Amino acid sequence: METVVSGIRSTGNLHLGNYFGALRNFIRIQHENRCFFFIADYHSLTTHPDPKLLHENVRNVLSEYLGAGVDPDTATLYIQSDVPQVTELYLLLNMHAYVGELERTSSFKDKVRKHADNVNAGLLTYPVLMAADILLHKADKVPVGKDQEQHLEMTRRFARRFNNIYGVEYFPESMPCDFGSGLIKVPGLDGNGKMGKSEGNGIFLIDSDKDIRKKVMRAVTDEGPKTPNSEMSEPVANIFSIMKIVSAPDTVEYFTEKYNSCEIRYGDLKKQLAEDIIACVAPIRERILEIRSNDAYLSKVVREGAEKARASAEKTVSEVREIMGFKKF
Ligand code: ADP
Ligand code: TRP
Repeated sequence: METVVSGIRSTGNLHLGNYFGALRNFIRIQHENRCFFFIADYHSLTTHPDPKLLHENVRNVLSEYLGAGVDPDTATLYIQSDVPQVTELYLLLNMHAYVGELERTSSFKDKVRKHADNVNAGLLTYPVLMAADILLHKADKVPVGKDQEQHLEMTRRFARRFNNIYGVEYFPESMPCDFGSGLIKVPGLDGNGKMGKSEGNGIFLIDSDKDIRKKVMRAVTDEGPKTPNSEMSEPVANIFSIMKIVSAPDTVEYFTEKYNSCEIRYGDLKKQLAEDIIACVAPIRERILEIRSNDAYLSKVVREGAEKARASAEKTVSEVREIMGFKKF
């Protein structure tokens, strides 16, 4: 049995990228492994959320995890800030994380470029906090999307460094979990890049059928193929990438052939894609709405999750303290 850990920041509603990149893979393996799934509310602080909205965001994401199928009776589902040991491990790992390597992280460089007015130390040490989340339960597998690959490499580097410095075989090599098909990147429908909360191009698990149709019908395309078997432009390739994730293989094949023979009508392609996304999202949305109004259930899940997560975290942190030389008087 392997240990699996993953989390998503509580900065907004979950979108198809979060679902197909991380959540669905977690859900697939939650019954066969020792699984921890959490809401990364500390990570969300790097962008200074409004205190009035913080709790609501966590509550929404919690309902979305549950609606998507995280089973709190099997997996340990918890809120990061309910487990104080994560901050202690973060502090300890920070002592062996070097400013130079943190400054070279692509996500950090990207934030510096985009938000030069808010380059806080939390942002710089974001990968250390993420490593603490993962190593807190000594995870073997981490279900994440492609954008988190570098953060996971850093987690492994911090783990190896710790093991080398203290001469132990304590932390495992935490590997991304991709089911052999490579890590997923769900593109946006706005022509380039990934789907993301901060990109403003999300199709959310909570979106109504009408919203989904509207968003998909607005997807950027091009003037259509001029010669048979021509290469797809990025916006069109992105539509096909999402179709490969949500639609049946013969649907993808049908539209690929239409594209290759220059007979494709993008309107038909989008209509089909919208219906296939709805078929996947609608049942999840219905469950989310039901769960979101059930306060007693949510607080029970959070309480029990925190207890289970703390037990695992406490064990790791006390072992780490001992390895590092802390002793009781
Ligand atoms: P966002 O990028 O929307 O702010 P997060 O950074 O909190 O979301 O990502 C949470 C998880 O969802 C991570 O595992 C990340 O890899 C995954 N993820 C986010 N966007 C995508 C995407 N477009 N494609 C694949 N995975 C994604
Ligand atoms: N950094 C991740 C993201 O933005 C979220 C995250 C925080 C995470 N801690 C984690 C993912 C631990 C997996 C494991 O997507």
